[in-house]
Amino acid sequence: MSVELDSITQLQGIGRKTLEKLKFAGFTPELIAVSPVRVIAREADISEVQAAKIAEYIRSELMSEDSFITARDYWEYRKNIERISTGCGNLDKLLMGGIETRAITELIGEFGAGKTQICHQLAVTVQLPRDKGGLEAKALYIDAEGTFRPERVIQISKRFGLNPDEVLENIVYARAFNSDHQMLLVKKAFEIIKEENIKLVVVDSIISHFRSEYPGRENLASRQQKLNAHISDLLKLCSVFNLAVVVTNQVVASPDVFFGNPIKPAGGHVLAHGCTYRVFLKKSREGKRIARIIDSPCHPEREVVFFISTEGVVDP
Ligand code: GTP
Ligand code: MG
Repeated sequence: MSVELDSITQLQGIGRKTLEKLKFAGFTPELIAVSPVRVIAREADISEVQAAKIAEYIRSELMSEDSFITARDYWEYRKNIERISTGCGNLDKLLMGGIETRAITELIGEFGAGKTQICHQLAVTVQLPRDKGGLEAKALYIDAEGTFRPERVIQISKRFGLNPDEVLENIVYARAFNSDHQMLLVKKAFEIIKEENIKLVVVDSIISHFRSEYPGRENLASRQQKLNAHISDLLKLCSVFNLAVVVTNQVVASPDVFFGNPIKPAGGHVLAHGCTYRVFLKKSREGKRIARIIDSPCHPEREVVFFISTEGVVDP
């Protein structure tokens, strides 16, 4: 079940220039197959007629007979998915039990919304026994912003009755100094995870290096191209090792919105399609935080409330 992107140049009216534009914007055949025609045209700067033709061709190529399995086989595959409790009842309710393995969960929100705090807490709860919502496993933490704090891990461990020293020992940590380094760390993670029982990989944040190194519209295409490769590696990681990936993302002002919420997640279509579950976090009055799932295929639209305390992320 595969198709080479280069093969689109056999289509009438599609030349190498269009192919280059698509590649430049970070489009792979898989991404084209799941993106709306309008988005493909806009991001790659090609006409909608061209985008429609390419999308139709790619989808028909990808839909060969062997891409069908029975729903029962798919159910068997889904049954292997495990959940890690967030350690906060309300967030678990929102996520229908916790974060899933074989998926990327994206925490989106403004500064101070609680993204990093939730990542710290998950690095602890993944270590809990199964009957307490954990997976009795280790975490791998990629810190792009330099905000990982062992002190917080110690405080949170005590709340869950775990030995802080052991908990720290079970978190494999790396600081990512730039976007290339961050991508390299994920590639290296494959080697580490082969040896260690790691069930959670955190990237906090996935986007900050990319945004600062590729500013402005003129760099957007190269940025999205790299980000797409990075997300593909993370998706591979979670499906190969049946582990959970959690990434954090910032919000940006959205000038094209006149009604409703004028902010949107950074990272555009590449992150939107790469991440399985997107959780939006918002600050509210008196330290209250609100979490909501956006664009989920199987979670009802709802909001829950949580707080951040000395003990970590907690229920009201
Ligand atoms: P950015 O990384 O800046 O985008 O934000 P973030 O969403 O990662 O925010 P983070 O998770 O770091 O949350 C920061 C908030 O957590 C702060 O506003 C503090 O109110 C709260 N916080 C962090 N540590 C403690 C603590 O030890 N005790 C209490 N009560 N609150 C804390
Ligand atoms: Mg943070």
